[in-house]
Amino acid sequence: KDQCSIAVESRIDCGRDRSLSRADCEGRGCCYVPLPQSGFRGPPWCFYPVSYPGYKMGPLLPTEKGRRATLTRSAPSYLPRDISTLQLDVMAETLGRLHLTLKDPASPRYEVPFITSQTRGHKDIQNPLYDVDFQPDPFGFIVRRKSNGRVLLNTTVGPLLFADQYLQLSTSLASSVISGLGEHYTPITLDLNWSSVSLWNRDMAPHRSANLYGSHPFFLVQEGDGQAHGVFLLNSNAMEVFLQPGPALTWVTVGGILDFYIFLGPSPQSVVQQYHEVIGYPMMPPYWSLGFHLCRWGYTSTNITRTVVQLMRQAKIPLDVQWNDLDYADQRRVFTFDPQRFEDLPQMVKDFHQLGMKYVLILDPGISSASPPGSYKPFDEGLKRGVFIKNSTGQILIGKVWPGPTAFPDFTNPTTQDWWMDCIRVFHSKVPVDGLWIDMNEPSNFVQGSVDGCPESDLEKPPYTPVVIGSQLNSATLCMSAQQYLSNHYNLHNLYGLTEAIATHSALLKVKSTRPFVLSRSSFPGLGRFSAHWTGDVRSDWEQLRFSIPGVLLFGLYGVPLVGADVCGFGGDTTEELCVRWTQLGAFYPFMRNHNDKPNAPQEPYVFSQQAQDAMRTAITMQYSLLPFLYTLFHHAHSSGSTVARPLFLEFPTDPNCQSIDRQFLWGSSLLISPVLEEGALEVTAYLPPGTWYSLHNGEAYYSKGQYILFPAPLDTINVHVREGSIIPQQLPALTSTASRRNPFALIVALSEGNWAKGDLFWDDGESLDTFERGNYSYVFFFAKESYVVSKPVKLNGSLNRLVLGEVRVFGVQTPPTAVWANGQIVHDFSYSSDTKVLTVPGLELPMTAMITVQWS
Ligand code: GLC
Repeated sequence: KDQCSIAVESRIDCGRDRSLSRADCEGRGCCYVPLPQSGFRGPPWCFYPVSYPGYKMGPLLPTEKGRRATLTRSAPSYLPRDISTLQLDVMAETLGRLHLTLKDPASPRYEVPFITSQTRGHKDIQNPLYDVDFQPDPFGFIVRRKSNGRVLLNTTVGPLLFADQYLQLSTSLASSVISGLGEHYTPITLDLNWSSVSLWNRDMAPHRSANLYGSHPFFLVQEGDGQAHGVFLLNSNAMEVFLQPGPALTWVTVGGILDFYIFLGPSPQSVVQQYHEVIGYPMMPPYWSLGFHLCRWGYTSTNITRTVVQLMRQAKIPLDVQWNDLDYADQRRVFTFDPQRFEDLPQMVKDFHQLGMKYVLILDPGISSASPPGSYKPFDEGLKRGVFIKNSTGQILIGKVWPGPTAFPDFTNPTTQDWWMDCIRVFHSKVPVDGLWIDMNEPSNFVQGSVDGCPESDLEKPPYTPVVIGSQLNSATLCMSAQQYLSNHYNLHNLYGLTEAIATHSALLKVKSTRPFVLSRSSFPGLGRFSAHWTGDVRSDWEQLRFSIPGVLLFGLYGVPLVGADVCGFGGDTTEELCVRWTQLGAFYPFMRNHNDKPNAPQEPYVFSQQAQDAMRTAITMQYSLLPFLYTLFHHAHSSGSTVARPLFLEFPTDPNCQSIDRQFLWGSSLLISPVLEEGALEVTAYLPPGTWYSLHNGEAYYSKGQYILFPAPLDTINVHVREGSIIPQQLPALTSTASRRNPFALIVALSEGNWAKGDLFWDDGESLDTFERGNYSYVFFFAKESYVVSKPVKLNGSLNRLVLGEVRVFGVQTPPTAVWANGQIVHDFSYSSDTKVLTVPGLELPMTAMITVQWS
């Protein structure tokens, strides 16, 4: 009886695989205690007793990498094909990182390829942040934060199950404030009210409860006192994670091994950094990719595409990158272009280049298999070289995507990577694209499994199928039994997009010898090393606008900082007001692309009223003026695993008000963005963490005790505040970043209460490979104190030659200055506003390559 007295919120479901009668439940040795309420979501009636037979742990013995024990199960579980002997490895890899694996020592099981820790482990870690204890029978482990004894994970709350196609582990959670486990349509923190999230890459327009395009089995828990920890389960099989109010969590995955990384922080930022150390720091994007991108499905010819660019220039709205969707391709077949409507595509791309612009087009993975033999080289050649995924009986698996019947390249095969590179090289020699947009790479399939269906097997219908859209794993994708070079699709499915991104990135790198730009819809940990991401087919409505913020912020945690949602929405017609607000927010997505679906009303900035165009121009121009700052944030993400668009809790971990804010966010640590997310709203209630914040527009100061403040937000305004103590490098905007990169810099200096500020600038040519790694860049440090600002080059490589500092604006100058000097020379035309306390020093022409001092008194 005592075995079953467990608080309702801590009951762990014993009948996930099916709903059990009392007899069946008790037959499993579980507790059956019905509850008055019953419903779709709620505590289970059938749950594990306090001590449910599981694995028994043998002695922990030292190994070269850590400690090892053998786990044995004496009685079978209720699942088919138990793995009755397991090997546990416990590795204290760094002070903040604990690594724990459970595998079958007798016969190797599938393990995730491509994701490798950069720093596999240091031996003899002295005094790590964690303690780990074991309960030998039934096996479980407890991870504590050593400094305060807090239990972070406790897996003794439920049994370990490890069968061939069902692996399960439960843990208590240190708090209910948990973020991650994407990709889903959720707020920044997850709902623990008996919910579950499934990780299974799927072509699905974002909506609640759906498994979306990517899988990220990582979460971060805010412990409530400013400390945080994170857990990464490195497993690519279909997974469902159950969340309950205990608070507790249960992982269920249908294959592979259990491979846990636990990150102790202790700050949330360091958790993220520790995670990125394992999955790899994000790539350094080309400078131009931080500008404005314009796309739609339905630019049906080069003439139309050229007109779009022309109209953008006439409207004087910055545009760096023009895109084409599938329209360009001949019968929607990739690596071709329509001989009529896109006849002059190569010339068009060259013309865009002349304007200082770039060009990207879509590249779906599905290769049309229905062209007459000899007429479509990518397929013929792929066939010859054996690059396509095969079905369970060894023939090429044929599905259906945009061009009709298609075969799917197996990017885990090195031969496929070579063939893909050749395809890209040949196409690029005709159409010199600057980047590639890899879509439909979940992979998406318009028929279930294949045109011939899928064979009946445990792979297609495992003993337990996580709750996924379409109910079956092969829904809208390939058969699970399909064969790839490294394993079957059952194991590799979630890696399809990642492997395509790796192949595409390395092809572009070889073909162009500049920093590759790849945009991928499907994702898995590690994607950010190779690619950007967009959040897929979002609807043009206000709710989707609002949820795009947590969407973008979460991808920052997942190590994919170059991310955005389709500005103005993809599905359905946008409205002028929505599109203005979306453009304002989009200007602060690290990746900003306006993209639209085929049947919809146009939504390029120039189709709207003059007033709307003005508002959009203001927003995009502001983005362009901030590109040097944004680029510098990307440098930090690339060199130390930090985030670019950042949730407030990462920056203000001890402020409980920031725990779940996701209607506002930060750029780095210094800019607070508070967009309008409601129709008709002309003001916004924004939270300002304690301290002084200055309006980016006019330098007006707000002193916050940590409070919500109501700001005016007319249609032409997005509220952006600069944090005290920061210096933001800017550059005079232009119609492209190619042009703006040559313009004078400006500094915004936001003095702190103690009268200081600091900031920095990373600068290089914006496109060469590995500039940071090779030391081929410039780095400038800025600081301000009392009554002077200094710009100090710490490293120069020539990239700043001929560039000047043109203006300094100092926010928070309390006493009106009577004189100003720049590099010792008196400046006459400075201005000071006693209302806003802003000192403006314009008209400077000071070389950025030398130390600069601007002083006032
Ligand atoms: C998918 C993409 C979308 C694209 C369309 C046509 O729906 O998500 O962005 O426009 O395919 O290629």
